[in-house]
Amino acid sequence: MGADIIDGKAFAAVVRGKVGEHVARLMADHGIKPGLAVVLVGEDPASQVYVRSKGKQTVEVGMNSYEHKLDIDTSEADLLALIERLNNDADVHGILVQLPLPGHLNEDLVINSIDPAKDVDGFHISNVGLLATGQKSMVPCTPLGCLMMLRDHHGSLSGLDAVVIGRSNIVGKPMAQLLLGDSCTVTIAHSRTKDLPDVVRRADIVVAAVGRPEMVPGDWIKPGATVIDVGINRLDAPERGEGKTRLVGDVDFATASAVAGAITPVPGGVGPMTIAVLLANTVTACCRAAGLPEPEGLTA
Ligand code: GUN
Repeated sequence: MGADIIDGKAFAAVVRGKVGEHVARLMADHGIKPGLAVVLVGEDPASQVYVRSKGKQTVEVGMNSYEHKLDIDTSEADLLALIERLNNDADVHGILVQLPLPGHLNEDLVINSIDPAKDVDGFHISNVGLLATGQKSMVPCTPLGCLMMLRDHHGSLSGLDAVVIGRSNIVGKPMAQLLLGDSCTVTIAHSRTKDLPDVVRRADIVVAAVGRPEMVPGDWIKPGATVIDVGINRLDAPERGEGKTRLVGDVDFATASAVAGAITPVPGGVGPMTIAVLLANTVTACCRAAGLPEPEGLTA
């Protein structure tokens, strides 16, 4: 029997719909239009695509989008000055600095210069600490998107065994915190984990976020488990024609989907959720700044 396919594209459209409704109400009832500022330093092609997509979707849900594109050799002082300006701009409710930054810029310093209340990525050290201690925070977009899909599929996650493969600050660690917050028994596995297949086989929930194409095969998956594949890896696909590529996840979809109870595909799984949650976080930040109730179902 094949697994249920968790349709992240459709789920993201629902999230964007809820965000759009909330934005319309904020405008109608309070005259407030949420605004998201995105800062891109340099011309990394993948980052340019993401930033364009973020700007487009921000406008589509009725919010203001402010894009700041800076030269690759922008000084740290100039970047920090821009962030300070955005921190003090009442029309800007969310600030995102696209990562990775060019090597001469200190990423930690830059991220920690963002006002934590406007840190819609949830990367500021204050938000990391608030999440870890179970307090209200801004929550990183990709893990929050995964949590929303898991809650939607399972209802309660309480007592389930969850394995997160990958320990990054952007996905692995916050994902583990969120699952712990929903009362899962959580294991964080990584490149040094002993007997990784056995660790994964114990899990009711597997979140793969390592960035290694198709590294998790179906025979690592407990029958009926839910598999969330965060990986987006581009492989050459000469069988599709010269110079063609295809996207695959960190999970071998063909074998895993034969064993799992539910699985997210790549593309069309976790990927579309990240920007949808970014928009949700911006509305949440806006509501908090204005002292208004937060949108329901769009926060952790
Ligand atoms: N680069 C890749 N993913 C992300 C993300 O979620 N946020 C930021 N700021 N940069 C990224």
